[in-house]
Amino acid sequence: MSFSDFHSAILQGIPDELPAPKPFDTRVNHAPRRKDILTPAEKKLAVKNALRYFPEKFHAELAPEFAQELKDYGRIYMYRFRPDYPITARNIEAFPHRSRQAAAIMLMLSNNLDYAVAQHPHELITYGGNGAVFQNWAQYLITMKYLAEMTDEQTLVLYSGHPMGLFPSHAEAPRVVVTNGMMIPNYSKPDDWERFNALGVTQYGQMTAGSFMYIGPQGIVHGTTITVLNAGRRLPGNDGTLEGKVFVTSGLGGMSGAQAKAAVIAGAVGVLAEINPKVTKIRHEQRWVDEVYHDLNTLINRIKDAKNHKEAVSLAYQGNIVDLWEALVKSNIHVELGSDQTSLHNPWAGGYYPAGLSFDESNQMMARKPEEFKKHVQASLVRQVNAIKTMTDRGMYFWDYGNAFLLEAGRAGADVFKEDGTYIYPSYVQDIMGPMCFDYGFGPFRWVCASSDPEDLRTTDRMAAEMLEDMIKTAPKEIKQQLADNLLWIRQADENKLVVGSQARILYAESEGRIRIARSFNQAIRDKRIKGPVILGRDHHDVSGTDSPYRETSNIYDGSQFTADMAIHNVIGDSFRGATWVSIHNGGGVGWGEVINGGFGMLLDGSPEADRRLESMLFWDVNNGIARRSWARNPEAIFAIKRAMEAEPRLKVTLPNIADDKILEGLF
Ligand SMILES: NC(=O)c1ccc[n+]([C@@H]2O[C@H](COP(=O)([O-])OP(=O)(O)OC[C@H]3O[C@@H](n4cnc5c(N)ncnc54)[C@H](O)[C@@H]3O)[C@@H](O)[C@H]2O)c1
Repeated sequence: MSFSDFHSAILQGIPDELPAPKPFDTRVNHAPRRKDILTPAEKKLAVKNALRYFPEKFHAELAPEFAQELKDYGRIYMYRFRPDYPITARNIEAFPHRSRQAAAIMLMLSNNLDYAVAQHPHELITYGGNGAVFQNWAQYLITMKYLAEMTDEQTLVLYSGHPMGLFPSHAEAPRVVVTNGMMIPNYSKPDDWERFNALGVTQYGQMTAGSFMYIGPQGIVHGTTITVLNAGRRLPGNDGTLEGKVFVTSGLGGMSGAQAKAAVIAGAVGVLAEINPKVTKIRHEQRWVDEVYHDLNTLINRIKDAKNHKEAVSLAYQGNIVDLWEALVKSNIHVELGSDQTSLHNPWAGGYYPAGLSFDESNQMMARKPEEFKKHVQASLVRQVNAIKTMTDRGMYFWDYGNAFLLEAGRAGADVFKEDGTYIYPSYVQDIMGPMCFDYGFGPFRWVCASSDPEDLRTTDRMAAEMLEDMIKTAPKEIKQQLADNLLWIRQADENKLVVGSQARILYAESEGRIRIARSFNQAIRDKRIKGPVILGRDHHDVSGTDSPYRETSNIYDGSQFTADMAIHNVIGDSFRGATWVSIHNGGGVGWGEVINGGFGMLLDGSPEADRRLESMLFWDVNNGIARRSWARNPEAIFAIKRAMEAEPRLKVTLPNIADDKILEGLF
């Protein structure tokens, strides 16, 4: 399609003539059929709601088609209106626009729907099975048209993908304000999502799907690398290197597959059990897994060898994690780090395969004899915990990876509780990400080169590395290690070839690092050392953006982990300090009703205005969360916020006075 045809297609929005119906394309990965949850009256309402996007002349033809989509797929996606041009992160100048900021948003949302990036592109789902950019293709078409037409004196309002419209605002305001899945709290149970999403009035935006900030697997690889490196530091007397250290875990799936790549980047011997041969094959072909073993004795010998030679290597065991743990117990190999990433948030329907049954036997039993299958899963979890306990008694550090491992093991009767009812092992946020990263302000800062030129990305990598090298020289000892980890990551980033879709990079940085890196990019755009603008953002798994009591804020212990003030303040604060777009979501990662998370995007165009905005907004975006973590009495956050107050005299944060527990004894 030519440049001008692409422009005309965008500017047309909803077409004047009905496009021909599109056949269901079986070559594309499609979303599962959704629950049939609406009453007949509600189904009529869903179709009537969908028809609102189209002129009356189309209604007679579209009504039965939309009714059929609802019957067949449980949702109305309006497949016929899917555009014919490839949706991808083009150079920013290729998008028709009157506002460069709006064009940046077009680039980012196009990346989220790119076939190479999105999980179910025809259903507008980017990742996680239900993380939606829009609910239907009409919303996409209208939004792109608005973005192409709007000026810097307008703001586009999106309600869960629905473009409510353009409203007059001003140049300093965000160009887009996004909400996803915001519900009256009592209507936030999983079936409420099914019902209201089927009606076409809300959507699940996950964390970076509905905020247009997804950058493919790179984000999870970096987060996992940081987790593994910091887990190593929990080992007594460890100087931080993972050379010659063994990390055993399970899962080579969607997120868990990143463990293989991360183990190698971190310098460890990664050993990963995966029961599904297709999944192992994909990761092996992709080279995230170096070697695959079917025989446990051969694998054990290979682990010993790799450990002795301090190899950075990922070894997959094609089989059950329980069998692997039990073989390791017998072998007497010293394993330093252990975790688990089977999908135990979904234990009875394929998330966890019990020991003693083959993969096929399990698949049959879970459908035909679910009660018997449940017993196998629970017995297997008890065996798994027993083996892990032997290994932790021998000095291994084990953590729960936010996959409900300890929850389900405990329910299965495994011995995972301390006397006070808490778990014997920490979660990765409680012990690692919370105190070692989030409380100091380190989080998943990212940028996208809007020229879509890989050379620009290489230039920004070099600039970020130089900035980190400079910061390490004067950094306090508390954060030197984090800076060094990220320096290592950014130096290797290009050769690790993790770019899929837009020319994006992730880097865990704290407030000062984010600001200094952003400032240097803006200068480089001005000097034309970078060919196009740069878009800043982060995912929501961060210091300030997300209130999620079992994940991001699980290391908050003052009771406030069940409140969501921080996430709301985060986006409100970002929006009047210069964000180009802001978004706030219900759900994401851990589920609808379980988390509120906020994010932003910001265009750096080399202007002095961008300098002012980045200073103001990034400082708030990180320190808002540190202040809250400090008020929750987290020592690392108290350290970090005091340091921020020294650097910025206008910052005055209420600090907690810490009561001695002795004062409280005998009060109740
Ligand atoms: N990586 C992270 O940062 C992170 C953060 C929070 C939560 N999680 C959780 O981690 C879990 C995994 O996520 P995912 O996207 O990789 O899921 P996934 O379902 O794609 O992958 C899990 C893999 O485990 C395998 N498996 C199941 N039982 C097994 C067994 N007994 N032995 C060996 N292999 C087995 C499955 O075949 C599957 O490939 C989820 O519960 C997710 O919520 C991950």
